[in-house]
Amino acid sequence: MAALDQVGYVADEGLATAVFLALSLERPLFLEGQPGVGKTALAAVMSELLGRPLVRLQCYYGIDLKSAVYDWNYARQMVHIRLAEDFARHREASLELERDVYGPEFLVPRPLLTALTTTPAPVLLIDEVDRTDEAFEALLLEFLGEFQITIPEIGTYRAEEIPLVILTSNRTRDIHDALRRRCLYVWVDFPEPARERAILARKYPALGDELLESVVKVVAYLREAPLTKRPGLAESLDWAEALQQLGARRLTPELVESTIGLIVKYYDDLDLLRRSDRLKAVLTREER
Ligand SMILES: Nc1ncnc2c1ncn2[C@@H]1O[C@H](COP(=O)(O)OP(=O)(O)OP(=O)(O)O)[C@@H](O)[C@H]1O
Ligand SMILES: [Mg+2]
Repeated sequence: MAALDQVGYVADEGLATAVFLALSLERPLFLEGQPGVGKTALAAVMSELLGRPLVRLQCYYGIDLKSAVYDWNYARQMVHIRLAEDFARHREASLELERDVYGPEFLVPRPLLTALTTTPAPVLLIDEVDRTDEAFEALLLEFLGEFQITIPEIGTYRAEEIPLVILTSNRTRDIHDALRRRCLYVWVDFPEPARERAILARKYPALGDELLESVVKVVAYLREAPLTKRPGLAESLDWAEALQQLGARRLTPELVESTIGLIVKYYDDLDLLRRSDRLKAVLTREER
């Protein structure tokens, strides 16, 4: 926990223990949770903390082997073929040429292959794994099970040292049990007020205790309100930054109204808040 704190990440005991275990058991860490609670950021701070490179695979629907594992450098292969054409007039030579252009120098490693071949073993972030389809999930399963990749034309690449793998998900779809089984699972919730205050205070110390306290209270209230999109930590950080830029000292209803676009991002949510008196009540309690 203290080590994470040194690199600017305020973790709770559960997350810090899970990170420690992921490292000592060499198991991937599967972080599922609310948006903006620091899932992606954890991979970056772990890379900094361990002094290991960060390899990032951003998942999306339709991601496949070519964009996640490896591809061939077609342009380079073509140039090679052209140059060799003159020498490849007979069959043996052309077979040799074919073997040639599927060699390691024509390979384009993508993040998963890079993670196996980088030393020291990197931190591999497989971000937003819930956006992929099931076929890709199966591919990941194999990768995480063996930490090796076989390229038919070349052979097998095996990790000498197991990378620290961090998978994240926003739970837009359920991830298969088989993948979960291989990982250490952590549900990352919104931070409790004291931790959120600590995070904000580290980044925006100029805000002062009173204002920080109000920010945390308003955000906590908004997270309990029935909004389409509840504000995450990313939103409270943005809001705190804006308030610091504005030189705010206290949170007034007017100030909230003029900056609310940083924490509430949907018209319906704005409408709901404007019509309800509860936000005002929260603020009035603050003012007293
Ligand atoms: N515990 C923390 N300590 C310090 N900063 C944090 C912490 N958690 C989150 N942050 C900061 O909050 C912001 C949002 O975090 P991040 O992008 O990692 O969220 P996320 O969980 O990956 O969100 P999403 O699900 O939307 O991708 C970042 O600027 C990050 O540095
Ligand atoms: Mg993220």
